[in-house]
Amino acid sequence: MKAGVVGIGGALPETVVTNADLEARLDTNDAWIVKRTGIRERRHLDGGRTLTDLGAEACSMALADAGRDPADVDRLFVCTLTPDRYMPGLAPGIGDQIGATKAGCIDLNGACAGFLYALDQAAGLVESGRAQLVVVCGAEALSRITDHADRGTAILFGDGAGAVVVAPGDLDRGCSTFELRSEGAHGDLLYADGEERLMRMDGKEVYVHAVARMVEATEAALVRAQITLDDVDLFVAHQANARIIESAARRLGVPAEKVVMNVDMIANTSSASIPLALWHAERDGQLQPGDTVALASFGAGFTWGAGVITWKEHAQAGA
Ligand code: UT7
Repeated sequence: MKAGVVGIGGALPETVVTNADLEARLDTNDAWIVKRTGIRERRHLDGGRTLTDLGAEACSMALADAGRDPADVDRLFVCTLTPDRYMPGLAPGIGDQIGATKAGCIDLNGACAGFLYALDQAAGLVESGRAQLVVVCGAEALSRITDHADRGTAILFGDGAGAVVVAPGDLDRGCSTFELRSEGAHGDLLYADGEERLMRMDGKEVYVHAVARMVEATEAALVRAQITLDDVDLFVAHQANARIIESAARRLGVPAEKVVMNVDMIANTSSASIPLALWHAERDGQLQPGDTVALASFGAGFTWGAGVITWKEHAQAGA
């Protein structure tokens, strides 16, 4: 019995902040932002909706996509840096909103790599038989911890939520064991401290590590899954910066047509980035049931990781 991804959902706030909007209030310009990051716009949560609402929308959509009843969810993991309240976390409220009446619901904070860590946990629970149905959600309102006067970071981050449903099946691969790492010695290169609560980053250093670590982890994940890059249909890397993704793909030898890119539309949404990239890729017809997908992420901590999954393998088998 293996654990597979059987459903996907995503939700974005309505408010769009374009590069032109930022140009009006910061010493920056659209050409610089597009050239250095690939980002054209991002979404900000405002107008009364909570992050709990956004996460619940993504989770409900993922369960509907999987054709599963919320009342059957055993566990809900919500990855977030930016919960609505310091406590409780987002997960109990999201579980309540979606009707996951018998689920254990908890937040995990693994920064931008959180979603891969939580997906690994979900797969482990399902494969061990401890859970039959797990929802993994990344939900972030990074606009809450962005210094909107700092052009070095204000252009980079956005808000959004994405979710997947993980369930058991008689699968060939499902979610292969992930390669997960952390290196706390680099904690000062990207952080928001308890007092100030604003993200501070040494962008250049983070950039260099992000590329190198995602490449290493992806190579290790391929070895672990006993496949080569030729077997990979799609490379879905954390959407922090188009140049980081392109550089990692180039080093790995992944052709551009196999690389998912939605950072232009939503910027860096931290732990929501991978599920939102999968959601967009499926909606755009870039991702089909049965596809072999290499996932890679990197973020504050540093924490990072990579894994190989077969997309909706169950659906392809017609089970
Ligand atoms: O989830 C993981 C978290 N974060 C990341 O992965 C981000 C990693 N880092 C990056 O994406 C890039 O380092 C940045 C996009 C943040 C910066 O790009 P860069 O190519 O590393 O630029 P830089 O920091 O070397 O800055 C180049 C120049 C500097 O001016 P001088 O010193 O050459 O005169 C900056 O002051 O660009 C200036 N600059 C800007 N100019 C216009 C920095 N930010 C801006 C801006 N608009 N927003």
